[in-house]
Amino acid sequence: MHALPRKPILQVFKGEPLTPPPFWLMRQAGRYLPEYREIRNRGKGFLDLCFSPDRAAEVTLQPIKRYGMDAAILFSDILVVPHALGQGVDFQEGEGPVLEDFPGVSKLGEFNPDTFHKYLEPVYETVSRVREKLGENTALIGFCGAPWTVATYMIEGGSSRDFTTVKTFALSQPQEFQNLLSLLVEASVHYLGKQIECGAEVLQIFDSWAGVLDERQFQQWVMGPTKEIVRRLHETYPHVPVIGFPRQAGPLYVDYVKETGVDAVSLDQTMPVSWVAREIQTLCVVQGNLDPHLLVTGGDVMKESLGGILSILGKAPFIFNLGHGVLPMTPPEHVAELAAFVRSWSP
Ligand code: CP3
Repeated sequence: MHALPRKPILQVFKGEPLTPPPFWLMRQAGRYLPEYREIRNRGKGFLDLCFSPDRAAEVTLQPIKRYGMDAAILFSDILVVPHALGQGVDFQEGEGPVLEDFPGVSKLGEFNPDTFHKYLEPVYETVSRVREKLGENTALIGFCGAPWTVATYMIEGGSSRDFTTVKTFALSQPQEFQNLLSLLVEASVHYLGKQIECGAEVLQIFDSWAGVLDERQFQQWVMGPTKEIVRRLHETYPHVPVIGFPRQAGPLYVDYVKETGVDAVSLDQTMPVSWVAREIQTLCVVQGNLDPHLLVTGGDVMKESLGGILSILGKAPFIFNLGHGVLPMTPPEHVAELAAFVRSWSP
């Protein structure tokens, strides 16, 4: 086993606020980096990159080499899960993901760990390789999409504007939709457990579309399945912290934290930080929440917002991050500017 860690992110989960706080960025690996584009273009597309452990591991480590974040996040995608469940996914240039028509839950069948594992073995291999190469102060984050968000892609067949197809489906066929969520809970627990066994030290559950639901739907489709995943992971791996990201959940962030048992929540940029300090940071570790567009702009405008976030949330256990992923048009030198600012910050 690995020696006792002195990894700042893991210390924060033990309840120690650090000055400066540790940081990493969602989508820290990706198209804004020329070295990513170079490796990406060497293969047959995005999914091929996710399933090529040598290249995926290299891409995971690229931002760490440049900027020294406190955590690396596995390079993969939330949509490898439907792919491994038997609903093919394709990423077309400039189009985003395109999924085969939803075959129905009975066609997908009971969760079969063996076939699922066969598809995802290269991802686990990436986790092991990254963990081997990571420095002793950098943590490895594994992840999956939350059942609701993954289900939106499975039913809509790709990205959506208004979620009409998935909402109509869920409301008119509630049992079938619950069955889909249950299948995704099984798959996610299995998938995250394997990532832990291969070296992931923290997990994040991405619920990017949690913010389009009313309170009751949020309870049934976001909190219910997430609670079940967290409960089962904590039962088997009590030492591995789980970060939830119910993006744009607004005041429902509080219910989410109280109900799901996550160890931390990632906040999007619409959450006012002084409200968060009072209402959420008293319940769990928080992570966030700079608007990714400020990183596109950089300079003093970015630093003013950064300073505000750090001075209000930096007093209690906190992990600095963005409110959503790094945008492809972000100048890499602005990320260097952000890293330097966070590293030299003190109250
Ligand atoms: O660095 C990291 O954060 C790790 C890798 C990662 C990717 N996607 C790589 C990726 C992670 C954690 C994700 C999560 C993900 N994927 C989410 C949740 C977070 C969020 O952004 O809301 C979602 C909704 C997806 C689904 C997805 N993947 C879409 C809609 C798209 C197309 C849009 C786009 O940004 O291109 C992707 C593709 C994708 N996933 C890319 C990357 C780097 C771009 C692919 C390319 O190189 O062409």
